[in-house]
Amino acid sequence: MSNNNQNTIYPLIDSPAYVLEENRLIANLEKLSRVRDEAGIEIILALKAFAMWSEFPLIGRYLNGATASSLYEAKLIAEEMKTLAHVYAPVFHSDEIEELAKVSQTIVFNSVQEYHSHGPEFLRYRSDMEFGLRVNPGYSEIETDLYNPAAIGSRLGIPSLTELPQGVTGLHMHALCENNSFTFERVLQSFEHRFAHLLPHIHWVNFGGGHLITQADYDIPHLINVLKSFKQRYPHLKVILEPGSAIAWQTGFLKASVLDIVETPVQKILILDVSFTAHMPDCLEMPYNPAIRKANYGSEGKFVYQLGGMSCLAGDQLGPYSFERAMDIGDEIIFEDMIHYTMVKTTMFNGVRHPDIGKIDVDGNYHLIRRFNYSDFKQRLS
Ligand SMILES: Cc1ncc(COP(=O)(O)O)c(C=O)c1O
Repeated sequence: MSNNNQNTIYPLIDSPAYVLEENRLIANLEKLSRVRDEAGIEIILALKAFAMWSEFPLIGRYLNGATASSLYEAKLIAEEMKTLAHVYAPVFHSDEIEELAKVSQTIVFNSVQEYHSHGPEFLRYRSDMEFGLRVNPGYSEIETDLYNPAAIGSRLGIPSLTELPQGVTGLHMHALCENNSFTFERVLQSFEHRFAHLLPHIHWVNFGGGHLITQADYDIPHLINVLKSFKQRYPHLKVILEPGSAIAWQTGFLKASVLDIVETPVQKILILDVSFTAHMPDCLEMPYNPAIRKANYGSEGKFVYQLGGMSCLAGDQLGPYSFERAMDIGDEIIFEDMIHYTMVKTTMFNGVRHPDIGKIDVDGNYHLIRRFNYSDFKQRLS
């Protein structure tokens, strides 16, 4: 639905749509590639956060490739970034090994047993495959357990290891989530405390994602110092970071529209052409209240509304939000920072229409990249 309402900021963009702002993505990539060069490390994109593959050629010009959590992500990296993937998955299926070997350069296993059961098979299909093990540093500063890979009893990563199996050349850890360099420093201390004895025997370490390097107040010089001093202690090691959020952090919005306004005895509800559960699931899972342009979260103010999703799930709603003016049917709602962990997590629950995917290029022109239709819904079912 396009909109000529005078309050509309983006009249030329049909609603609903995820809209990437390419100049913001480039600004993030420039920051990340400076860190990479100054610290002397490699930075790869974690697809789980952002897999808008039409941008992969651009990302590939700034970063060292990408990391996958599955065969399909690895294939997407090979096809659209034209490079071999790093892959970590909590478990591998034996019937996917041959295909994975064709599109991957590095495989990280979650247990020694997984390495022993699949490593030899990977080597049959790619003799120069690199193998790593995911270890758990046993320390993190993440409040929500849903996102805490180092919570007590976590299944992710080996908590202690006296020696490395033959053929393993790297260690991987991931215990950050939207954290800063000071938290990383403390996680690194714990990692070294547990695993320093293994480091002389490997060639590379991957310090995972969760480094929110592109957030405005992130202390980049401190991160570079932490990385450089690690490299001084272990000059033989190649160091890799694999952030996801940091690449797509604040690089665009979800444009939605008000389709109806429902008044109940206790609240007014704007019924939208998007769904929180289907299109912004982290709002309900985490949970968090996204920023909305020209509105504030909370019930202070004259024009306060709850926001209702278009699915029939009772909890598909968020709010209240206070707007600058009374809202009407047809008004635009701009959800900020809706590019990472959105498109990759959407569903067509209830058969709801999936928002378009588009971008605003560096010259300010909007391009519709993908529109979804009935056959996208049907093809996932049988
Ligand atoms: C193994 C691994 N690497 C990288 C990432 C990317 O993390 P983020 O998007 O927070 O940077 C994740 C996120 O869950 C992860 O599990």
